[in-house]
Amino acid sequence: AAVPLDELISGLTVDVPDFPTPGVLFRDLTPVFADGPAFRRVVEGLAAPVREDPRAAVTHTDDGAAGDPGFDVVVGVEARGFLLAAAVALHAGVGVVPVRKAGKLPRERVAADYALEYGTASIEMHTDSLHAGQRVLLVDDVLATGGTLAAAVALVEELGAVVTAVCVVVELSALGGRERLVPHEVRALWTT
Ligand code: PRP
Repeated sequence: AAVPLDELISGLTVDVPDFPTPGVLFRDLTPVFADGPAFRRVVEGLAAPVREDPRAAVTHTDDGAAGDPGFDVVVGVEARGFLLAAAVALHAGVGVVPVRKAGKLPRERVAADYALEYGTASIEMHTDSLHAGQRVLLVDDVLATGGTLAAAVALVEELGAVVTAVCVVVELSALGGRERLVPHEVRALWTT
């Protein structure tokens, strides 16, 4: 039998103490992405169909339209989220839209600030990169405090689109990111 996906991910992840600052345990997922079969299973896991929108008036109990993954577009967060989002979009047969760090997008954009350990940072999306009602699968590698993904959710919603699920490879549960993203569904392939 195949190794469970969470065990596969945890087994390939390299823990790096005191990076980027003393006291932080950095979960390095690059060996997961570098392993072909593991990367494929990660992408498939992230791209699994979304069947329920927690905010929708009606909960879908069937499998929806044939071939409909339950999202219309994948939004990925710079930079590590980009490695995943494009692969997930290709797998699902939809397009991919970037959330970028401030100053990278050339045209009209929306911005959201989020807290860092010291100070704040800002992420941006092109104003015309999503349209009203579009169903978004939001993808990143790690859910830590949830600050980054909460800001990304705010941008998607400012553009009138709907976040159907937030998907990450690893959720660091002690940092409370999932609670910060309520009421959105968080799909984590490995929770630690
Ligand atoms: C990391 C990670 C997530 C975020 C998670 O990105 O890829 O995007 O931090 O942390 P949070 O839940 O506390 O917001 P980072 O800002 O290091 O950028 P990078 O992907 O460009 O390295």
